Amino acid sequence: MKHVDLHLHLDGAVTVAIARKLAKLQGITLPENDQELERLLTVPEDCESLTDFLKCFALPLSLMQTREGLSEAVRLVVNDLQSQGVIYAEIRFAPQLHLEQGMTQEEAIRAALEGIKKAGECIDHAAEGNMAAQIKVNLILCAMRGDGNESANEETLRLAKKWLVADGGVVAMDLAGAEALFPTGKYRELFAKAKELKIPFTIHAGEADGAESVKLALEFGANRIGHGVRSQEDPQVLQLLKENQIPLEMCPTSNRQTHAVEDMSRYPFMDYLQHGLKVTLNTDDPGIEGTTMEAEYRYMEQRFGLDEDGKRTLLQNAVDAAFTTEEVKNWMRMELGLR
Ligand code: ADE
Ligand code: ZN
Repeated sequence: MKHVDLHLHLDGAVTVAIARKLAKLQGITLPENDQELERLLTVPEDCESLTDFLKCFALPLSLMQTREGLSEAVRLVVNDLQSQGVIYAEIRFAPQLHLEQGMTQEEAIRAALEGIKKAGECIDHAAEGNMAAQIKVNLILCAMRGDGNESANEETLRLAKKWLVADGGVVAMDLAGAEALFPTGKYRELFAKAKELKIPFTIHAGEADGAESVKLALEFGANRIGHGVRSQEDPQVLQLLKENQIPLEMCPTSNRQTHAVEDMSRYPFMDYLQHGLKVTLNTDDPGIEGTTMEAEYRYMEQRFGLDEDGKRTLLQNAVDAAFTTEEVKNWMRMELGLR
């Protein structure tokens, strides 16, 4: 099956194999034992919350503090996605998390763009005459929830505007990080500016915090919501999502691991889908969660009875929701057999 992944963090997409390549390239020492490395890179069984989950990002981030490391990470992640049947992906990352060895946020953006370009060249080379092997990739720049990083977020906003394109580069902004510790209300001004500057944006909301967080993100003018699982806590928020057909970027394995919902038997994904909310299916952090798009579909089929009609709706929703041009959307529809 061919896939579209709209919610995928670069630092969360680093697998053991990718970590080894990045470490070797930069002369960084990693544990020699693969199991030990996997333990450091993946979510522990006893992960209790999003805050716990986010601790797994320290190692992958440490491998992406140089231009070379960051660019190669993007190239390797894109190669993995392409080999897994993903035809369109929006990779998100926070430039401010790549400055430990002297890169600027703008250099980080340039490095990520270079990684996409290099991946394209490799894929073109490997697939001469085989158009089916194509993948298109765009970037979403994340601002980060936190304290004391207000000017870093402003800089991300400035650069998002500077680098914004309709397709083939930076296409939107996001807000990531610990939602329960740094509530959405704190980011009103940042997103008022994003709106004024006409930068499309999505916000992680209703994941570690409640429906109120989704309501605020909608008030700010978010074009999409990252997760939104907890929207069901307020019927009025569900109504707003439905009326405005705001896409939800849902990520079941991530939601299970971060305990976004306590009891997966009450996971609202199928309810949302059946009630006409614009649900999309995504991975979030495939390396850290040990998942792929294929595995997310299998999980939804086996655990929640997702059928062929449901899969088609998810794909249609993903294409409609993508931050790209009508031309690329039409290409996706052809590739996915949606017309
Ligand atoms: N960064 C990576 N994964 C995330 C998630 N699920 N929520 C918020 N920030 C994240
Ligand atoms: Zn996420």
